[in-house]
Amino acid sequence: MTSKAKIIRLPGLIDIHVHLRDPGQTQKEDFTSGTSAALAGGFTTVVDMPNNSEPITTVERLLQKRDLAQQKSVAGIGFHYGSLGDNLETFEEAAPLSIGLKLYLNNTTGGYLLDVAYLKKIYAAWPKDKVVLLHVEEDVIDIAIESMKNLKRPVHVCHMPSKEILEKIINAKQSGLPITCGVCPHHLFLTNEDVDKLGNYGRMLPSLKTREDQQYLWEHLDDIDIFESDHAPHTHQEKAEGAHGVPGLETTLPLLLTAEKEGKITREQIIEKCHTNPARIFSIPTSDRTYTEVSLEEYTITNENLFTKCGWSPFDGQKVTGKVVKTVINGKTCFENGKIIATPGDGLVIPS
Ligand code: DOR
Ligand code: ZN
Repeated sequence: MTSKAKIIRLPGLIDIHVHLRDPGQTQKEDFTSGTSAALAGGFTTVVDMPNNSEPITTVERLLQKRDLAQQKSVAGIGFHYGSLGDNLETFEEAAPLSIGLKLYLNNTTGGYLLDVAYLKKIYAAWPKDKVVLLHVEEDVIDIAIESMKNLKRPVHVCHMPSKEILEKIINAKQSGLPITCGVCPHHLFLTNEDVDKLGNYGRMLPSLKTREDQQYLWEHLDDIDIFESDHAPHTHQEKAEGAHGVPGLETTLPLLLTAEKEGKITREQIIEKCHTNPARIFSIPTSDRTYTEVSLEEYTITNENLFTKCGWSPFDGQKVTGKVVKTVINGKTCFENGKIIATPGDGLVIPS
């Protein structure tokens, strides 16, 4: 006898950290495939990063990207603007078209590295009602925190992988700095021990850390504001050649609901970090008519069943509990029973 699995409803999830690669690297992903992956993963709004092959550091490129997204997206989408310290005069025009400003203080895909000498000037120039997001690893976290002092500007530290960084963020928060932080599912559900098995598919920046680091993240969930997937697809060929990054939009929610079943996290914490906090911190509109429905049944994540164009996941073969069965935006069903119902162009670009 088969019993029907329980269906739960969650508010539409928001992922403030994805790389949809459009325009320029659509062999990895594009706005249609990436936002389809979002819907299939229960996400109704995503915010895309500026490290395209031509970085989004001019208003012209930002406008082009918004136009393209408006034609191709099936879910809500916004954009973080970028800076290498030489485009401060564009901030006034770019900020109202952006969700935040992303700065890379460590090397990353695209080689898009900011000299820390520019940091203070950028903090001062970007409007204070919009967040600056940082890619900072252990070697630059102290400089980043130091540079925020006395400025009263919101800063979000992306994808914290380790005890060392989270401890420093907790201290900075306690000292009164307006700092928030995010953690990626891969740092919660994988460690450096998994790299033996995953090979290049276990490589991303920041890299996977030790079990002790992982444990520290789980023990300090209340200090983590946001879960962000850092959905960073690359083709098999590019991974074989050493590209860093893993997709995450379709695996984040099932992994978290599985952790809930195991008693590691509560439903309230999942909603807070995947919906309420991202909406509040990044001023992303929400609605009671925007939600996702998840069947609490067990299934196996497989590379074959993904919408992301890259066609693989580091969690391939993993059994999880929590299958997204329906995703609704503003009352319109956009994804149901494994099929995308929305058509390209239905997704709203924000800020509108
Ligand atoms: O692993 C990563 N991949 N880390 C980043 O910072 C960038 C991302 C990408 O764009 O591939
Ligand atoms: Zn990223």
